[in-house]
Amino acid sequence: MNAINLENSEIIQVVFFVLLAFISMFLVLILFFYFSRKKIVQIEVDKKNLEIEHQKELLNSVLITQEEERKRIAQDLHDDISSKLNVVSLNSHLLKTPNLNENEQLEITNNIIELTQKALENSRRIAHDLFPPVLEKFGLNAGIEELVEEFNSTKKVKVSYQNTIDFESYPIDKHLHIFRILQELLNNSLRHGKATEISIQFTTFENQNIATYIDNGVGFDSADLENKKGLGMMNIESRINFLEGKFTIDSKPNEGVKMIFNFN
Ligand SMILES: Nc1ncnc2c1ncn2[C@@H]1O[C@H](COP(=O)(O)OP(=O)(O)OP(=O)(O)O)[C@@H](O)[C@H]1O
Ligand SMILES: [Mg+2]
Repeated sequence: MNAINLENSEIIQVVFFVLLAFISMFLVLILFFYFSRKKIVQIEVDKKNLEIEHQKELLNSVLITQEEERKRIAQDLHDDISSKLNVVSLNSHLLKTPNLNENEQLEITNNIIELTQKALENSRRIAHDLFPPVLEKFGLNAGIEELVEEFNSTKKVKVSYQNTIDFESYPIDKHLHIFRILQELLNNSLRHGKATEISIQFTTFENQNIATYIDNGVGFDSADLENKKGLGMMNIESRINFLEGKFTIDSKPNEGVKMIFNFN
């Protein structure tokens, strides 16, 4: 009888310890899942925060660029238009002066003609800077051809351009974005890369519009985030975002630059 009782209490003890072991394992598992879930959530939150931070930087760069452009337009208007119209106005009043001889009249009139001519040229230049008229009149393809021609005419660089996309059916309000992206890339290639050969290619692949831009310049470390934080690059990125596209930029020192982006 005693022996049976002893066996029972041993079994109870074993069951108790097994149960305890299961409960502890269960608790450890729950704790493990809880903390790893928390870590995953934290990583997600950090990722989202980084994205928000980046979006803020992009927005900031757009605002800064807008402000700079406004400042530049205000300066151009002030220096190249207002000041000339001011002198035109003074000259026009001079014409009213009594007893002007013929020579004086001629001189003042010539002044007015010359200054209005200059003011006209300047206003045309400012308008062209804001929205290249070729885009409105002949579309993006002609605009890019003209841009490429301008760069080629400097003889410092040879730019080749190939395109199989029909930009005529592409929304006109998006033309300027593509144009400005290429303008910035070309300026960077010359200014920073000292490139002598550049290739621009537009193709369609699986219903996607794709642009490939390559220069043979001195390149830069594209993995270094600081290089992506210049206003030019940030503007390119926000324009590509606007076109609902994505981009990759590949560059290493002395290996030129390769940028690919898609757009809709
Ligand atoms: N094609 C290139 N070749 C070599 N370096 C480049 C090229 N494009 C960009 N970079 C590097 O990346 C940096 C950032 O370019 P980004 O266009 O943003 O600014 P930036 O040209 O210096 O100034 P901004 O465009 O505002 O006048 C440049 O300063 C340059 O170091
Ligand atoms: Mg730049």
